[in-house]
Amino acid sequence: MEIIVKDNVEGMSKSAARVVARTLNSKPDAVLGLATGSTPLGLYKELVRMHEQEGLDFSQVTTFNLDEYVGLTQKHTQSYHYFMYENLFKHVNIPNQNIYIPSGSTDNYEAFCKWYEQRIVECGGIDLQILGIGSDGHIAFNEPSSSLGSRTRIKTLAKQTIDDNARFFDSPEEVPVYAITMGVGTILEAHKIILLANGKNKADAVAAAIEGPMTSMITASALQLHRDTMFIVDRDAASSLDMLDYYEWIQDKMPNAP
Ligand code: PGA
Repeated sequence: MEIIVKDNVEGMSKSAARVVARTLNSKPDAVLGLATGSTPLGLYKELVRMHEQEGLDFSQVTTFNLDEYVGLTQKHTQSYHYFMYENLFKHVNIPNQNIYIPSGSTDNYEAFCKWYEQRIVECGGIDLQILGIGSDGHIAFNEPSSSLGSRTRIKTLAKQTIDDNARFFDSPEEVPVYAITMGVGTILEAHKIILLANGKNKADAVAAAIEGPMTSMITASALQLHRDTMFIVDRDAASSLDMLDYYEWIQDKMPNAP
């Protein structure tokens, strides 16, 4: 794993945007795996800026989102569908037919999940997957105890996740209890992965994912098995890492550090 530590969330976002831009420059028809939540907001803002001011082109890009709440329609302001259009898709030139987001309102989840997995394969797999991390160590909505081989399916959200996400809803009771999410196994098939994290409340999860044992109780720790994963974190999120000095020493010597 590569670990990049930036001084603040802005540095984290810009660094991640450079990785995305490099991917698109070398493969204009790349398949991107996208995440929602507060963490990637700065990344999406920077990508929109690069599109508007530097001509970063998304016209051949395909995207697959990680997850969606079950029971929220696409128009619901807390749906991930709504989030993605507001924060990225409305502002860049990804063709609408190339955008895939798990459905939170299908009447056949089993068939939908199979189809979603199949579409990823038919599109050639995910070239670059963007991830956040939950304070419980989850990636996408793969909560503690999720199988590390899991595929796209319905998951019940952990109490910690419901509490964390209640800030976006009027009350904790309104946070959906179920989500449709790519599995850990689905994510591990991405060719390249970047995991972003900022803030003190992510420090323990980041340390457990990088330095702890691989365990289904911290699904981000499964990334230890992946050959091309980069953690891009701010100083607060890096603050519980035992080997921080070592990672920074490597980072200083990395010729192409983003
Ligand atoms: P956040 O969520 O970016 O809103 O902190 C991350 C996650 O739960 O994966």
